[in-house]
Amino acid sequence: MMGRKLLSLTFSLIFLLFLISPSSSTTSFRKLLGTEKYAIVGISNCSSTTEINADDGYCIQHMAAKPDRFNNSCIPFYSVLYAPTEPESPHPPKILQVFFNDGKLAYRLVNIEFPYSDKTVAHSRIPTEKLAYFTTNQTIHPLISDIIGVVYDHVSGFLYIIYKAFEDGQMKPKADVYQMEQDFSSPNSLLNTLLYQFYIDPNFVDTVWSSDIYSKMFYYQKNEYSHDHGHITSNVYSIPYGSLTYYLKRGIRGKLEHVTESPRREKVQVTNGLVYSILNEGNNITSFLRPLHRDASGTSCVMNCTRTQDYFFVLTGWEFCKLRDGHDANLTGCNMEFQKAAPESTAAEQQSFSNSGFLWAITLGIIINAVILLTILCVLCKRKDVDKYDNGMYPTNKDPHGALLTPEEIFRRRRTTSTLTEF
Ligand SMILES: *[C@@H]1O[C@H](CO)[C@@H](O)[C@H](O)[C@H]1NC(C)=O
Ligand SMILES: *[C@@H]1O[C@H](CO)[C@@H](O)[C@H](O)[C@H]1NC(C)=O
Ligand SMILES: *[C@@H]1O[C@H](CO)[C@@H](O)[C@H](O)[C@H]1NC(C)=O
Ligand SMILES: *[C@@H]1O[C@H](CO)[C@@H](O)[C@H](O)[C@H]1NC(C)=O
Ligand SMILES: *[C@@H]1O[C@H](CO)[C@@H](O)[C@H](O)[C@H]1NC(C)=O
Ligand SMILES: *[C@@H]1O[C@H](CO)[C@@H](O)[C@H](O)[C@H]1NC(C)=O
Repeated sequence: MMGRKLLSLTFSLIFLLFLISPSSSTTSFRKLLGTEKYAIVGISNCSSTTEINADDGYCIQHMAAKPDRFNNSCIPFYSVLYAPTEPESPHPPKILQVFFNDGKLAYRLVNIEFPYSDKTVAHSRIPTEKLAYFTTNQTIHPLISDIIGVVYDHVSGFLYIIYKAFEDGQMKPKADVYQMEQDFSSPNSLLNTLLYQFYIDPNFVDTVWSSDIYSKMFYYQKNEYSHDHGHITSNVYSIPYGSLTYYLKRGIRGKLEHVTESPRREKVQVTNGLVYSILNEGNNITSFLRPLHRDASGTSCVMNCTRTQDYFFVLTGWEFCKLRDGHDANLTGCNMEFQKAAPESTAAEQQSFSNSGFLWAITLGIIINAVILLTILCVLCKRKDVDKYDNGMYPTNKDPHGALLTPEEIFRRRRTTSTLTEF
């Protein structure tokens, strides 16, 4: 009898410790990014939010999405992060949007608001009245509905518009490449030149595109049949900045970076080494964020509404300092700040997250937990004999539901605690 009690107590305590131990806790943004200094920029329909210092265990507003206070519907657009080409440029990053107006391809540059001193979120409406046209005398533009993706290489200043073109009743995917240059006479417009156009491989037709200024890579997501899994999976591939034209033209897929079991993920995009996606199952909409490479857990939130447009950017380093400090931003100071902020553990953590290291860490954790538990148990048992007041404080095998948590239960509980947050 006593032995069984001990056994169930041991197991429940092991599970409890497992719950507390860092390898299985809900991953905070601080931990996902390896820094406390980040700005999360979310574009939802026609408004944007910038969020900093998200509390551990809570969902950020963009991922929890309550319906917005603005009239939030607007014409469809594509968004990329527009960072200056010169790495040391004092100009803050902006959002570059591409859309259609009067049957012509247009764009706008949108400032990224930074939260005021005591706030953690800044909300703003996207100024839809602001627009400029691409300076090309092409008579035929792709329709917005034919655009497959828009990506920006901030190192060369090349903007790629990938779209379905129709010629003689046949669909032929194409890409237009524009050189975008800062126009110092007017901060809200860019000098742009159509450099070249080319036909792309049909492999890239059903794809979702994003670009990451930190890894200097383009990413695209494609649903494909996987022989390993025996069903369709959602795959994320990367293509280095400078190689896009070559890869698109030759049909080279790039490097497979990430596989998600569910092919129903939408709005898949990579930013600052993280994969963002939405799973829309009727009334249940969930947003996900997880590391692209590390086999570490990410975070997920329950969303309350759908979006026609959903873009997600995570800014750190110099781009973050420029947003925060404005004209006072100081590159030397910023670099020092981020060197100090980056915990040495990030490198160690990354190593331990390589598959075998991760398993070893868990095994070691369990062994250590068990040893500690046995020690505690011995002490507790001794005390239990003496102290009769703590009857009922420990789970017994009479009430198995109260005592043991299955991993699914733990996961569900954690999800509820981190998602039922009022913002
Ligand atoms: C975004 O737009 C869609 C369709 O226009 C609308 O149903 C949805 O409520 C909007 N989302 C937000 C957050 O306002
Ligand atoms: C919201 O904005 C859209 C586009 O700007 C406009 O067509 C629509 O009438 C507006 N709706 C409301 C309720 O103001
Ligand atoms: C406009 O078209 C003319 C004739 O096709 C061409 O010579 C010129 O370079 C084009 N200009 C631009 C900006 O594309
Ligand atoms: C939504 O989630 C609830 C609870 O998890 C589940 O019972 C329901 O079947 C889900 N609905 C859909 C359409 O997936
Ligand atoms: C979600 O929206 C529904 C109705 O639109 C509302 O009743 C409910 O409280 C919302 N839930 C959360 C968590 O905001
Ligand atoms: C920038 O920061 C560094 C280090 O904190 C400091 O030495 C330097 O004077 C600063 N430069 C300006 C222009 O403030």
